[in-house]
Amino acid sequence: MTAPIAFWLAGREATGEETFDVTNSWDGRLVGTVSVPTEAQVEEAVAAAHAVREEFAATPAHVRTAALDHVAKRLAERTEEIAQLISAENGKPIKWARGEVGRAVSVFRWAAEEARRFNAGEAQRLDTDAGGTGRLALTRRVPRGTVLGIAPFNFPLNLSAHKVAPAIAVGAPIILKPAPATPISSLVLGEILAETELPAGSWSVLPVPNDRMPALVQDERLPVISFTGSGPVGWSILDSVPRKHVTLELGGNGAAVVLADWSSEADLDWAAQRIATFSNYQGGQSCISVQRVIADASLYERLLPKVVAAVEAQVTGDPSDASTDVGPLVSEDAAKRVESWVDEAVAAGATLLAGGKRDGATYAPTVLADVPAGVTIACEEVFGPVLTISKAEGEEAAFAAVNDSPYGLQAGVFTHDLQTAFRAHRALEVGGVVVGDVPSYRADQMPYGGAKQSGVGREGVRWAMDDYTYERVLVLTGLDL
Ligand code: SIN
Repeated sequence: MTAPIAFWLAGREATGEETFDVTNSWDGRLVGTVSVPTEAQVEEAVAAAHAVREEFAATPAHVRTAALDHVAKRLAERTEEIAQLISAENGKPIKWARGEVGRAVSVFRWAAEEARRFNAGEAQRLDTDAGGTGRLALTRRVPRGTVLGIAPFNFPLNLSAHKVAPAIAVGAPIILKPAPATPISSLVLGEILAETELPAGSWSVLPVPNDRMPALVQDERLPVISFTGSGPVGWSILDSVPRKHVTLELGGNGAAVVLADWSSEADLDWAAQRIATFSNYQGGQSCISVQRVIADASLYERLLPKVVAAVEAQVTGDPSDASTDVGPLVSEDAAKRVESWVDEAVAAGATLLAGGKRDGATYAPTVLADVPAGVTIACEEVFGPVLTISKAEGEEAAFAAVNDSPYGLQAGVFTHDLQTAFRAHRALEVGGVVVGDVPSYRADQMPYGGAKQSGVGREGVRWAMDDYTYERVLVLTGLDL
């Protein structure tokens, strides 16, 4: 029997008393057995983070940037091995797993760059009133304290990177809790962090079982919580600790709007291709995957067959095969839930144009039209390879349809018109509008987060750095200004 995979407690390797298995949802094989920290070990990690917080906040920028650069370099060097791991633990097709490692490299590189620029301070003269003569305010940011980062299964490495890299960049200790289905890539991130000179206690990677999380969430030594995952869990965290600084990256039901001016054959081919790809990438398990296509009535009949053909051309199969576009979902239960939502829509009158079949944990790329309002898939986040397509009479109706959702993460608007782009940006109740492409576009340095039920706060390296810190003003007096 091989030894269980260790976790990272205050920067050093450790094992607990219990373990759990991580399996591959494609073929059921064991990917690894992971050691679970005991309650005493979790306490040790939290105490160490709390104890080191002042020292870490005072670490010179060159120490933090050297660590961040090192992680970027090592992730890049180990890309293939880590991509294979992500693919195995998550079921993600290998080509998307490689892309995910590349993105994590970029997150750490950006964090190093931002850490070099961060916190030089902003000066403001105060002698604009007689009472402020000889006075100057210098505003700098200080960490709020230790961050509890809770990562999801869908981008197990990169969404962990989005929690860890900004924390290191600002000098805030972090306890990272990976998703139970996909902890191994985060533990490899721990392996790389352990090669750096970061102070002991400044980071831990702890695969704590979900049922033990409420105690950690309540711990007052962890004043910042950065959570990515489901809405019900995220909002219950916020409700349970209203005085903490909580960032929630929750779901979405991303809309792609194709407007009347996006009408040449080449335009429609591009839109259909992008929609098909990004409705199904990672089995649709991305908060910004395309779930709703809203096409102008003038081009709906021409776009529809192109979307269906492009969806049917998605190659479904073994995630370790480089030609696979769509692998299994994270579990068979997840695929069964998607199946039940599609079945519900079809029973209520929706037209099934592609897919609609489940094989174990794999759900076929699916297109639904004529979906009645009120069925689950019309309102909630499907988190599976399913898109719905509908028509709208003109721009205003299309934008209203996008906004007719409890969520507001990102939207894609296919238009060539700059004025329309600005109108979309004003009208759409989302955290990001992507013009000429699908809502699924994300560059890791951009602010990323939602409106409405999609969450609060922003990730994207610099924005997370702001979230992890607060402004502290230094007023200098008696100056000869
Ligand atoms: C998410 O699912 O929220 C993350 C999407 C991404 O990083 O591309």
